[in-house]
Amino acid sequence: MKTASPNADWAAIFRGRRDRIRARTGGGPILWLGHAPQPRNYAANTYPFRQNSHFLYCTGLAEPDLALLSLPEAGRDILFGDGASLDDIVWTGPRPSLEELAAAAGIDDVRPAESLRGVLDEARRQGQPVHYLPPYRHSSVYALSRLLDIPMEEVGGRASSLLMEQVAIERSVKGPEEVAEIEEALGITGRMHRAAMAAARPGMKESELAGLIQAIALAEDRAQAYDPIVTVHGEVLHNHSYDNVLAAGGLVLNDSGAESPMGYASDITRTFPVSGRFSPLQADLYRAVLGTQREAIAMIRPGVSYREVHLGACRRLAEALRGLGLMKGDPAAAVEAGAHALFLPHGIGHMLGLDVHDMEDLGDVVGHGKEKRPGQFGLNYLRLSRPLEAGFVLTVEPGVYFIPALIERWRAEGLHREFLDYDRIAPLAGFGGIRTEDDVLVTPEGARVLGPPVPKTVEEVEEACAR
Ligand code: GLY
Ligand code: MN
Repeated sequence: MKTASPNADWAAIFRGRRDRIRARTGGGPILWLGHAPQPRNYAANTYPFRQNSHFLYCTGLAEPDLALLSLPEAGRDILFGDGASLDDIVWTGPRPSLEELAAAAGIDDVRPAESLRGVLDEARRQGQPVHYLPPYRHSSVYALSRLLDIPMEEVGGRASSLLMEQVAIERSVKGPEEVAEIEEALGITGRMHRAAMAAARPGMKESELAGLIQAIALAEDRAQAYDPIVTVHGEVLHNHSYDNVLAAGGLVLNDSGAESPMGYASDITRTFPVSGRFSPLQADLYRAVLGTQREAIAMIRPGVSYREVHLGACRRLAEALRGLGLMKGDPAAAVEAGAHALFLPHGIGHMLGLDVHDMEDLGDVVGHGKEKRPGQFGLNYLRLSRPLEAGFVLTVEPGVYFIPALIERWRAEGLHREFLDYDRIAPLAGFGGIRTEDDVLVTPEGARVLGPPVPKTVEEVEEACAR
């Protein structure tokens, strides 16, 4: 069992979370299904275990094969599971008992896993709806299908939209104990980023840097919050291969973050020069990205929509790229037309919490509320567009990318010619990409960048790369 930060009454916090969600959902019981181990090929050879984040939010328990039933009456929660068998103890060692797990989560009723079905049957006999969230693992689809007699292909569609909405409301606003967890993870993440800057050399493989940063988290018994992106091809937005060699004069984009003890994510991106010094063009584009990030952070405050922040940041980027001769015309008109998306096709950021893209398994209800996603290329990739509230934790991650296939296609189609100078853009098709990303708390007054500072200005990055 992972131990939580000692300076919070976690059992009371978990109880409070369950009670609030229960009170707002109403009606029947809520079934919170924990994750099962995922075998690689046989049952005892598993992928690293990661608990379902909603289950983690309600219990903090990172043990496999648990389920929690929140009954409609306040404070009535039952933890279902089976303690370790003698075989389990022989092969994998002693584990905390179900009673110990329940006590840590503020639950005082425990029952064997096999009795869950009977309690659910009884609720259904009484005509109560059983609320559950859409599962994102196949083993959970199967378990829900068996427990609730729902055909597997209908399990996702019959998830409780009321519960989804209430969970999105509850988990979007982070408590101080959650912000503390994210900042704790950011401490390790900062060290991962500094180490990568200090170690990079021409001739190294990306995998050496990826190994180095993961070792820093692993040495503290921490997981990565997601597969790190460590690449000389920063223009590939979610590039997860590490087989390129670092070349003098090139850039490395490092998008990586450790998890906190309770499973909270951190998510930082820095881009730095392999040889320790940015070229003049790299420095110009890097500063354009930094200015865009500054603009976005300055706009963040409760009541402002993240779509407005995104668009304001894009206008700032378009202005900077016009200054560098890559774009032309009015920046606001260019952004309205979507021309800037050639360089920045993704959104300015996303929610961060127990998952790096927090609660994206719940779909657009989290990032977009009841609004429909726009169809325009670039805007259609926004993960978050709705009005901000104090307590949201977000990433702010602008970038500039030169994606050869996109440049080629847009140029051939003559897209946005009035805003894009293709004769100056096309020769940069091998440039790669730059992204700068920080994690930000929305405060009543504005925004606070979380965690210890990680080298960010051109000068700070070059100093951290000093050879
Ligand atoms: N860290 C990867 C992402 O934000 O998509
Ligand atoms: Mn991110």
